[in-house]
Amino acid sequence: MSGFSINWLDLREPADMAARDKALAAQAIDYLHTVADQSPLIVDLGSGTGSTLRALTSLGAQQCVWRLIDHDPALLNEALRRHGQQEVIEDYEADLLDVDALPLGAATLLSASALFDLASADLVDHLVEKLARQATAFYAALNYDGRTQWTPPHPFDQQVLQAFNADQRRDKGLGPALGPQSSAYLQQALERAGYHVQIADSAWDLGPNQHTLVADLIRGIKSAVAEGYSLDPQALDDWETFRLANSVNGRCVIGHLDVLAFPAKTFR
Ligand SMILES: C[S@@+](CC[C@H](N)C(=O)[O-])C[C@H]1O[C@@H](n2cnc3c(N)ncnc32)[C@H](O)[C@@H]1O
Repeated sequence: MSGFSINWLDLREPADMAARDKALAAQAIDYLHTVADQSPLIVDLGSGTGSTLRALTSLGAQQCVWRLIDHDPALLNEALRRHGQQEVIEDYEADLLDVDALPLGAATLLSASALFDLASADLVDHLVEKLARQATAFYAALNYDGRTQWTPPHPFDQQVLQAFNADQRRDKGLGPALGPQSSAYLQQALERAGYHVQIADSAWDLGPNQHTLVADLIRGIKSAVAEGYSLDPQALDDWETFRLANSVNGRCVIGHLDVLAFPAKTFR
């Protein structure tokens, strides 16, 4: 099991869709329809239940072959259940750690969302090297970038954020995670491999109508930092109580970045 439940992925998806940079997504879609002779092949890594498929098809991607790769069969089955009738889907149960075994061949675009902050520098280097060799374009949306801003503020916010961002670097199954550095690292690795890279802001801006997601986040952040970061337990409890009490009327901005990269020979 991956630890990513269908419920959690469903809860975050509207915020992801609202935050995703539409101009970058439009360029990715335009690229698909321009360079591929027939049906473009999109390989979506860490696909979950098909969030990237839903986002790009709703923004205009048509007649694509979607190769969804995840290590959680329950998430892949859910993607097939939701989209298997309307879209051409090839589902692959695989561990992203074994980059050489991933079925990346002939991909027009490698896509991902909410994935690369979990990945290690080694995984990115290895993947980018393979993609560059076959001139596959790259689109990774919603990489956490370390910003979390709460309204109203609380005196413990900064300490909690520092601990949370440190925790984001922990190994979550894909090697020592890049966490908030993921987009900057992707940019360097892709540019070194000759790609033209663009980065756009895709921060979540969560208000009262997303208080269920905000409450889940608060509990998740508390649980991530409760051990190993020397935070005073009483101060952390007080912080959680304050944050939950304000989740219905407050705001929460969580920084993400989208990365789009075209191989040099196709960059227009
Ligand atoms: C944060 S979720 C994002 C899912 C989906 N892209 C979305 O935006 O809803 C990360 C995804 O990566 C998958 N994943 C995590 N570690 C993996 C691994 N080692 N191999 C394959 N998939 C993995 C999880 O199962 C999960 O579906």
